Amino acid sequence: MSGRTVIRGGLVITASDELHADVLIEDGRVVALAASGTATTEAWTADRTLDATGKYVIPGGVDAHTHMELPFGGTFASDTFETGTRAAAWGGTTTIVDFAVQSVGHTLREGLDAWHAKAEGNCAIDYGFHMIVSDVNQDTLKEMDLLVQEGVTSFKQFMAYPGVFYSDDGQILRAMQRSAENGGLIMMHAENGIAIDVLVEQALARGETDPRYHGEVRKALLEAEATHRAIKLAQVAGAPLYVVHVSAMEAVAELARARDEGLNVFGETCPQYLFLSTDNLAEPDFEGSKYVCSTPLRPREHQAKLWQGLRTNDLQVVSTDHCPFCFVGQKELGRGDFSKIPNGLPGVENRMDLLHQAVVDGHISRRRWIEIACATPARMFGMYPKKGTIAPGADADIVIYDPHAEQVMSAETHHMNVDYSAYEGKRTTGRVETVLSRGEPVITEREYTGHAGHGTYTPRSTCQYLT
Ligand code: URP
Ligand code: ZN
Ligand code: ZN
Ligand code: ZN
Repeated sequence: MSGRTVIRGGLVITASDELHADVLIEDGRVVALAASGTATTEAWTADRTLDATGKYVIPGGVDAHTHMELPFGGTFASDTFETGTRAAAWGGTTTIVDFAVQSVGHTLREGLDAWHAKAEGNCAIDYGFHMIVSDVNQDTLKEMDLLVQEGVTSFKQFMAYPGVFYSDDGQILRAMQRSAENGGLIMMHAENGIAIDVLVEQALARGETDPRYHGEVRKALLEAEATHRAIKLAQVAGAPLYVVHVSAMEAVAELARARDEGLNVFGETCPQYLFLSTDNLAEPDFEGSKYVCSTPLRPREHQAKLWQGLRTNDLQVVSTDHCPFCFVGQKELGRGDFSKIPNGLPGVENRMDLLHQAVVDGHISRRRWIEIACATPARMFGMYPKKGTIAPGADADIVIYDPHAEQVMSAETHHMNVDYSAYEGKRTTGRVETVLSRGEPVITEREYTGHAGHGTYTPRSTCQYLT
């Protein structure tokens, strides 16, 4: 956007600094940042002044794990790129990295083109893509090189969901070997899906059909085992590894051990594992289906280990794994058989607020909040410092955040296209006031002022922790 904007009087927070500063924006980028109330900043003239007195000025959130319109279990995730990115903006997120899907029998290119077609012209905020690799063969491996060159630099593989997304150890090893050569980053869904399917069959045969059995068959030990195996395969291949949606404390221990050994192994967790538990999965009247996702929610005692991992940097990123399915008509597909409940939770709008609540609750510091939600995902996936920070030259993706406003999360008031909130009734302190995407106001004092098509595709470099 052309023209000059100045944000005055706020506390600017990045992953490394906190500073009472004014921010000057020109043509969609940050051009200068200087202490408030000085001759330098008072000389700045602008077409628009935003008053951030008493507020935080933070980088827009980078959510590196979303699934808009994902086909799953005979249905589609209920947020489109239009509704999902608008909701993201409401929640202070200005970049998503969504997962394009290669279906078995199709090329990576076909999958990527299909996801570009879904997103283009529809997004309120900027977006990039990872690629889900469901069919590792010689052609796929060659295509990986081309995708890395054009800015799709990370590839998700699944040790779960046999017959759908699943890759066996040989396919995983081959993809990792390729990524060791081309600079790509393998993102692993680490659960032993073969063993889980046996336990699912046995549970259903015993008549255990309620949602809570989803949590019982997808055992923490089978997440830990798969995490360990993925680490060893990556070590053999000489490749880095990023483990997605870590929920079990035993898996955190595997990551910590690998990192202590000096391996380039990274871990992501999600708000649902930090704030929800198997208690939710056990809610009566099929309400537990609202909390079915994989990896599953765990007993409460896992949460402390996840927070600890985030503080000690054994876990580096919090993404949402936003994959919403309505209760009515979608989650209900699994009444009488938990294995037919579409897997996934909504959350793209809630992440920045929930993590701010974690600051209020003393789990993490303010700078760590920005690090795990903005800066590190941007660096991990090759978008820093364009995204993830406030610094001269960066895109002016900026949130003015009121740290004192109170809110209650609810499906009545959220903007995600889903008929329930996983956090219904949760009180949080802190709220997004204004959001700029490349300098353009997308949310202005709690009104939506953005538009579909503002968001542009963001090609990415390779992981910036490795170069
Ligand atoms: O339950 C989940 N996580 N659904 C989305 C697909 C995935 O595995 O990330
Ligand atoms: Zn997954
Ligand atoms: Zn996911
Ligand atoms: Zn625009």
